Amino acid sequence: MTNPFSVQDKVVLITGAFGLIGSTLTESFLQQGAKVIACDVQSIIADDMRKKWSAFTEGKHFIVCHTDIRQIADCAEAVRAGVAAFGRIDVLINNAAIDAKFDAQANDALNATRFEQFPVDQLQKSIDVNITGLVVITQAVVKQMLVQGFGNIINVASTYSLVAPNQRLYDMGTGTIQYKPVDYVITKSMIPNLTRYLATFYASDNIRCNGIAPHGIFNQHSDAFVANFAKLSPMGRMSERDEIIGPFLFLASDASSYMTGTIVTVDGGWTAW
Ligand SMILES: NC(=O)c1ccc[n+]([C@@H]2O[C@H](COP(=O)([O-])OP(=O)(O)OC[C@H]3O[C@@H](n4cnc5c(N)ncnc54)[C@H](O)[C@@H]3O)[C@@H](O)[C@H]2O)c1
Repeated sequence: MTNPFSVQDKVVLITGAFGLIGSTLTESFLQQGAKVIACDVQSIIADDMRKKWSAFTEGKHFIVCHTDIRQIADCAEAVRAGVAAFGRIDVLINNAAIDAKFDAQANDALNATRFEQFPVDQLQKSIDVNITGLVVITQAVVKQMLVQGFGNIINVASTYSLVAPNQRLYDMGTGTIQYKPVDYVITKSMIPNLTRYLATFYASDNIRCNGIAPHGIFNQHSDAFVANFAKLSPMGRMSERDEIIGPFLFLASDASSYMTGTIVTVDGGWTAW
């Protein structure tokens, strides 16, 4: 009997593939025998990332595409190149997004901006990538999925697609209070309902659509942030990056074949209280 949890030979297009979650997912899908179309707006993949990905596939199971998801031509080219390399696209993972960080490289000026002063041009930049870009790449991939007669879309949401940020998380006790900016919350909030829209729109075309809402993946955050997080989280800790992998593999696999239109939270219980 074939293993329904297997993603062996599935062809997966991942946007934002060079980032924290995107690179983790690319590596784990490759490890599980999938083929990956790794798309990112950054034109150059880091040598160590390419080496890591090549290590267990001899470089044959992935292609890298310079894809700005805001650009229709880039998205069409990623689909063309992916199909030329692997023959089809089984799974689209809409992962790329602009997301204010609170780790070591955080942009303090923007993160210290209260709602009433938040720059509207920054809001527009986030809308362009997180909303319009997601739609543009999905349109391109869905056209291919309709031709194939099957497909599976996984949208990367956030706990902030579901609840407001607890701004106390971002008060590091330094005297400068930081805030999770509103652009992120606005643009992530549409994901659950867009997921339901796509799930119902394409259900009769054999195309599923679900979302995953991660939260607080540790990436060199300060001790103060980690301590704040621990106090507010039911599980009392941030997520390790590997803890995100299982739910993506499951939704990408045939084991979830009757699931569509759902958001799976991977948040240590953050949205449970
Ligand atoms: N890191 C977390 O703790 C966390 C928590 C909840 C949700 N998320 C979500 O996970 C996803 C990935 O987050 P991350 O932390 O890995 O972010 P990241 O910043 O590490 O990676 C994002 C990637 O997207 C790429 N990108 C940006 N604009 C693009 C564009 N126009 N076209 C194509 N690629 C583009 C970037 O180059 C980068 O490689 C996002 O959707 C984010 O909202 C992350």
